[in-house]
Amino acid sequence: MRDATPEQTETIYLKDYAPVPVTVTHVSLNLRLDPLATRVRAKLTCERRGAGEMVLDGEMMTLKSIALDGSPLPDDRYTLTGTTLTLHDAPDAFILETEVEIAPQKNKALSGLYMSNGMYCTQCEAEGFRRITYMLDRPDVMATYDVEIEADLPVLLSNGDEVARGKWHDPWPKPTYLFAMVAGDLVATPGTFTTMEGREVALNVWVRPGDESRTAYAMDSLKRSMAWDEEVYGRAYDLSVFNIVAVDDFNMGAMENKGLNIFNSKYVLASPETATDADFANIERIVAHEYFHNWTGNRITCRDWFQLCLKEGLTVFRDQQFSQDARGFATQRIGDVLNLRARQFREDAGPLAHPVRPESFVEINNFYTATIYEKGAEVIGMLRTLVGAEGYAKGCALYFERHDGQACTIEDWLACFEDATGQDLAQFKLWYAQAGTPRVEVTEHFADGIYRIDLRQIVPDTPGQSDKAPMVIPLALGLLDTAGREVRGTEVHALTKASDSLTFDLPEKPVLSILRGFSAPVILEMAQTDADKLTLLAHDTDPFNRWEAGRALAKDRLMRAITEDAGFDDAWLGALATLATDAGADPAFRALALALPSQDDLAQSLHTAGVVPDPDRIYAIRRAATLVIAETLRDDLTPLREAMATPGAYDPNATDAGKRSLGGRLLGLQTYLDGGAAAGLAYDMADNMTDRMAAFSCLLDVGDETVAHRFETDWQHDRLVMDKWFMAQVAHAAPRDAVGLADRLTRHKDFDPSNPNRFRALIAGLTAGNPAGFHDPSGVGYTFLANWLLFLDPSNPQMTARMSTAFDGWTRYDADRQALMRAELERIAGTESLSRDLSEMVNRMLAP
Ligand code: TRP
Ligand code: ZN
Repeated sequence: MRDATPEQTETIYLKDYAPVPVTVTHVSLNLRLDPLATRVRAKLTCERRGAGEMVLDGEMMTLKSIALDGSPLPDDRYTLTGTTLTLHDAPDAFILETEVEIAPQKNKALSGLYMSNGMYCTQCEAEGFRRITYMLDRPDVMATYDVEIEADLPVLLSNGDEVARGKWHDPWPKPTYLFAMVAGDLVATPGTFTTMEGREVALNVWVRPGDESRTAYAMDSLKRSMAWDEEVYGRAYDLSVFNIVAVDDFNMGAMENKGLNIFNSKYVLASPETATDADFANIERIVAHEYFHNWTGNRITCRDWFQLCLKEGLTVFRDQQFSQDARGFATQRIGDVLNLRARQFREDAGPLAHPVRPESFVEINNFYTATIYEKGAEVIGMLRTLVGAEGYAKGCALYFERHDGQACTIEDWLACFEDATGQDLAQFKLWYAQAGTPRVEVTEHFADGIYRIDLRQIVPDTPGQSDKAPMVIPLALGLLDTAGREVRGTEVHALTKASDSLTFDLPEKPVLSILRGFSAPVILEMAQTDADKLTLLAHDTDPFNRWEAGRALAKDRLMRAITEDAGFDDAWLGALATLATDAGADPAFRALALALPSQDDLAQSLHTAGVVPDPDRIYAIRRAATLVIAETLRDDLTPLREAMATPGAYDPNATDAGKRSLGGRLLGLQTYLDGGAAAGLAYDMADNMTDRMAAFSCLLDVGDETVAHRFETDWQHDRLVMDKWFMAQVAHAAPRDAVGLADRLTRHKDFDPSNPNRFRALIAGLTAGNPAGFHDPSGVGYTFLANWLLFLDPSNPQMTARMSTAFDGWTRYDADRQALMRAELERIAGTESLSRDLSEMVNRMLAP
């Protein structure tokens, strides 16, 4: 073996992409499992494609033997470093055999092969396969696989079809990141699906013994997803078996490994007693998401990790479409936009802003972001709006036909739509390249029967990017008269220039309903009158914009109360009451309309408006507004809540969930008036987790001293329910008590920071759930977070890097808080042997 070179942690650039000189077309793996000494024998079928050395990735493993075409490889034919194995003078076609030893039990990073509750499982996206064996661990190397698992365990699973016990063959060429293997004591809930091509598929949801009773909803969601993808995208499943496995220790939501999806158990297991309506909805969405990846991600994958949005943005868009069909367009769209604004707009406005297709990264795991996923999905939605539903269907069909079996780029994707529709998408492509949320200024003019809308777009500077070009912004708009009748139905205008105008011949000035359905991920700046907003709230035919008008009214009130001490006017309160009590309106929609903008949303909006946000004042004003709304609805609360009752057995369907959602919100209002009396009764009577959590939160809000203990006594045996217990207590603590409580809870016997769900529940309960507590003026919240990040970083850097984003809004705040947060970021940055993950994040946050 030649001399080793030191490990590198440098920036990787899209422009440096080069295909491999030697590729791998088939992988034959034998895994002999053992917690501390698993042996992995790999036989790689290699073919030369160009000049250069073959550099295989491999880390945290011991090489036991290496052979080329059956003969042991002499030491001078290869070089080993801590992260690579370089073959010198590789022939044109050959078989490379290696044997390595790894210790899954010691793998706490949950990347590669690891153990969770006695079960072996893998997570290979993005770069985990290199912790299993030496291989070209990059998505543009696609190979077929034969896998043999040896272990004294009842269930042995891998990708593809099972050819004998513990032996699997995957005929579809795939990159390493889609490899998976599971072994353990598991039980299956079986099902079947017959594809439109007539293929019989065996479906299984695998869980730990005892959890079988909670798999029905995941199985049902899977069947509905399979049918939907056939119906809407014409895509059928392509193997004889599809397995889903629930794992308790998992860094993210789930993973789309070919034929063997692995899930965080939080997104599989559900029963009415233990899961809320939101949990059911998440399970449905994530099961669909991972299943849809079989075509958008697996059959057609990414050339390199810069193209991550090619599979993620598209697949999120597809799961959103699916959820709209399953649950109703308006409420799903409103929920998705709320999520986009809360997570992606925040990201886009801060030091971590990056394009949907980044041009560089240090650690790819840091780019599984709201921008790549959620803004990536919005970009697909805009594309569909611009080329039309038919053009979109044609473009997708061409994509599947042209690129099946390939590793592709955004250019490949867009070319399909250009070729299918004849449209030029050169300017549209800027959505992939330019970071930052565009602002669109709208001003209205009316004179002499001519209504004119002036539009101006501003694309803000972001780290590393300034002076941006105008984007294509599809604006779906309609016009109402002042009585609320629609005078022009929805039409789409693409704003392509920095500024432009639209004119309409009309007898009177209309009420403008613009950005219908949230047709572009932009911030609209428009001085619309209250009268116009109230008209839209009451009458717009576009349900998204009805909600948006109510949102704008609420935000305006809260902002003015925060900055000018303004009171809450009857016009607004009356409109809210009308909506809340409108028995003809969808309860889910009414619940959304009653919700006030979040504390973080207000902080961000204040910052954008040039006001330094005060977290305590935001907290106090939001509560004051809630009290006024409660008083306005005082006499309606009880009858309205009664009308929201869902008699009969709990059913997670969207209609019942909508009623529970409104019921829960009304209970929240009632708690402001009765100090928790109704919530206490509701807690005692709850026969499902949705109602129980709603009541629990109310009781925590009023400082009930016994309910946390009661909840714990009832649920301490249940891991997923106890995550809710940890999170809710911290999120609903009074701001000055929150950090102290979080700190005490870290010493609770069930606080296990190595379990990502538990760690996230407690930490995010504070940082996201209790902003006024996290931003305690003393800085204790910042120190608490930094300490826990530093504690966990050596074992699970993906997790700590992700949780560190709680600091990404730090430059919004006052000088004292900024200094405190900067000091913590600098303390982290200055810590020795920080992970590449966390180091990249804190350095990016400190950069501006
Ligand atoms: N591809 C997965 C998804 O979106 C995301 C994912 C799961 C992931 N586990 C991961 C990404 C671990 C990075 C690291 O469905
Ligand atoms: Zn995905």
